[in-house]
Amino acid sequence: MSVVIRPIELKDKEAWTKLWCDPEQSYLEFYKGLDKVTKEATENTFSRFLDPNIASYAAVAEVNGELIGFVTYLTHIYTWSEQDKTYLGDLYVSPNSRLGGVGRKLIEYVYGEADKLNCPNVYWSTQFENHRAQLLYTKVGVKSGFLLYRRP
Ligand SMILES: CC(C)(COP(=O)(O)OP(=O)(O)OC[C@H]1O[C@@H](n2cnc3c(N)ncnc32)[C@H](O)[C@@H]1OP(=O)(O)O)[C@@H](O)C(=O)NCCC(=O)NCCS
Repeated sequence: MSVVIRPIELKDKEAWTKLWCDPEQSYLEFYKGLDKVTKEATENTFSRFLDPNIASYAAVAEVNGELIGFVTYLTHIYTWSEQDKTYLGDLYVSPNSRLGGVGRKLIEYVYGEADKLNCPNVYWSTQFENHRAQLLYTKVGVKSGFLLYRRP
């Protein structure tokens, strides 16, 4: 399987939206987030990937012209350093294309882009029960030692 990882483009909108929020099988379906993310939020998220003035990015994994996965990331200031940090927000590989190294390639792509943006400190979070993702994360990252809290 020859996979190309590249920045998302306008022409990817339909295919990316399917990977993002298809009711049968998608990233939001996986996270049970279909009813939490409005159509407007999805539109806004996509358009921000393409806005050069907003530090929100996405890359897609493509095989023979078909999108089989994506990753999103953003950069933000960091009080401890002059270099901004990179937060990897969403990662998804369609079920039929898993276990072929695509998830790893998407993360490694973000590492490369983060270096180019001079924001090499890349971090992300996952759910405790997402053991499948963690099998990959232990190969490409280290546990931060921090727990994530949110406002109730
Ligand atoms: C998590 C996800 C992105 C991984 O994508 P993927 O393309 O299947 O991942 P990869 O094939 O690159 O990962 C393979 C790595 O995990 C390891 N791995 C996978 N299954 C394993 C298993 N059963 N036992 C041991 N290691 C395993 C492999 O050894 C491999 O490491 P290697 O590259 O050194 O060989 C994908 O499963 C997915 O989209 N899941 C649903 C959404 C999700 O959970 N997203 C992440 C949210 S934080």
